[in-house]
Amino acid sequence: MNRWSIRSGRVFPSAVRHPAVEIKNKRNVMTTEKTKIMDALVTKEDIPNIYRGIAPIYDLWGMLTETKARKRCLDLAQINNGENILEVAVGTGSAFTEILKKNPGGMNTGIDLTSEMLGRAKKKAQMSGLNNYHLALGDAYNLAYDNDSFDLVFNNYMFDLLPEKDFPLVLNEFKRVLRPGGRLLMANMTKSMHWYNSIWEVVYGLSPSLLGGCRGVCLLPYIESVGFINTQREFISQMTFPTEIIRGIKPDAV
Ligand SMILES: C[S@@+](CC[C@H](N)C(=O)[O-])C[C@H]1O[C@@H](n2cnc3c(N)ncnc32)[C@H](O)[C@@H]1O
Repeated sequence: MNRWSIRSGRVFPSAVRHPAVEIKNKRNVMTTEKTKIMDALVTKEDIPNIYRGIAPIYDLWGMLTETKARKRCLDLAQINNGENILEVAVGTGSAFTEILKKNPGGMNTGIDLTSEMLGRAKKKAQMSGLNNYHLALGDAYNLAYDNDSFDLVFNNYMFDLLPEKDFPLVLNEFKRVLRPGGRLLMANMTKSMHWYNSIWEVVYGLSPSLLGGCRGVCLLPYIESVGFINTQREFISQMTFPTEIIRGIKPDAV
């Protein structure tokens, strides 16, 4: 039987395969959650096809279920004007536009796998009137950037699409391009103890593409296993849609 190991509030390395985490729920009560992650039912090749269809309605979906988490994620990112920022999987650019406003004196780079999502992000960025950005097709698995390049890597609702076995590979890519001391901020659909949060995974089981291929994940043990430090996790529910916000720091070189 799979068990989860938490001792004195710490997740032990053995928990990576069957992770358990402590979360703060809305009432700020610490709870322990089982986090067995469902298999990813969409492949990387499916993703551009799915998001080509979803792109026209994605912002409506995001407004109903993701705005609270996106705002909190941006707040926790504590962007300082002048930074070099990478957003991976910009989608239609809802967060990227906010990043541009917070970082008019820095450089802002965004990539996505789906050209129809990226096209919408480009339109939003053009409307901002700022030009210190670069938006391009790109793949989280193989970032086209030098080591130690970015102060902040921002990534929302992408890991919930990926196979669990790929989490360390992609997180190591994020870590590689972050400078020592750089911040990683992520939001993803997650697991919850409340039955009403779990209905989304029932929908996923019936038709993964209805949820854009997203199912609940739990990233905290993974970012710790690849070496991020000062990690934290918060839980947010909007219209019963469960999101975790994860933050970690790349350690200074030893
Ligand atoms: C659920 S949407 C989230 C979009 C945006 N981050 C947001 O929060 O509004 C998922 C996005 O991840 C992108 N994506 C999925 N796998 C990717 C990968 N390997 N590299 C880059 N983008 C990816 C998809 O194309 C899609 O635009």
